[in-house]
Amino acid sequence: MGKKRTLNVDDAYALATPADSLQLYGKWAESYDQDFADAVSYVVYWHASEALLRYRSEIDGVVLDVGCGTGLVGVCLQEGGIDSIDGIDISQPMLDEAAKKETSFGRPVYRKLIAADLTKQLQIPDNEYAGLISAGTFTHGHLGVGPLDELWRIAAPGACCAIGVRTTHFEQAGFVEKLSIDVAHGKITQPELLEVNMYSAETSNTEHANDKAFIVVCKVK
Ligand SMILES: C[S@@+](CC[C@H](N)C(=O)[O-])C[C@H]1O[C@@H](n2cnc3c(N)ncnc32)[C@H](O)[C@@H]1O
Repeated sequence: MGKKRTLNVDDAYALATPADSLQLYGKWAESYDQDFADAVSYVVYWHASEALLRYRSEIDGVVLDVGCGTGLVGVCLQEGGIDSIDGIDISQPMLDEAAKKETSFGRPVYRKLIAADLTKQLQIPDNEYAGLISAGTFTHGHLGVGPLDELWRIAAPGACCAIGVRTTHFEQAGFVEKLSIDVAHGKITQPELLEVNMYSAETSNTEHANDKAFIVVCKVK
């Protein structure tokens, strides 16, 4: 029998629909942290967390980790002092991995984990969250600008946001136009764009070594 092929970032970029995500991440969930995140020195979740942690003292309430996957962001936020975190993701197997993430006191990192397709209307009340964070989910084959209106709706006025978007996707999927419209319509503050590496220097021998993301930092109005 042939050796099972390890899933990788090219499999993720080849996705086209939420159904594709369900299938890929269903297979990838158990090995994602080791075979992907550790193996390719994936770091964008750390950069997004650092960006949100700058506003830690202003965040009075729960933060939603959008496309939380196995919970790498939650662990960083919790270690940085934000400890009221919900996660939302389309893949139940990824959420099951996130549910295993614990604080040093053995408490779950996530308060609540929500299975939902972010391309659809969310069963979440208006103004529910004091912060929004996302890493690795606004990228090719995953989420475009479509879910942003729902995210602004469920965020409370003044909620701090740190949303990672792969730079190539930012340009191709209309983020420049969408964010300018949302600023002009008074939905969000003018975003600060922090350009960061998606993978650390240790991946310099792969074709993705220079992949970058913008962390879109803004507040919901
Ligand atoms: C590359 S992973 C990133 C996970 C995590 N944030 C991280 O940084 O490791 C992308 C995640 O987006 C989720 N996803 C993709 N499409 C989605 C959708 N339509 N609704 C909700 N989650 C989705 C996938 O299930 C997967 O967990």
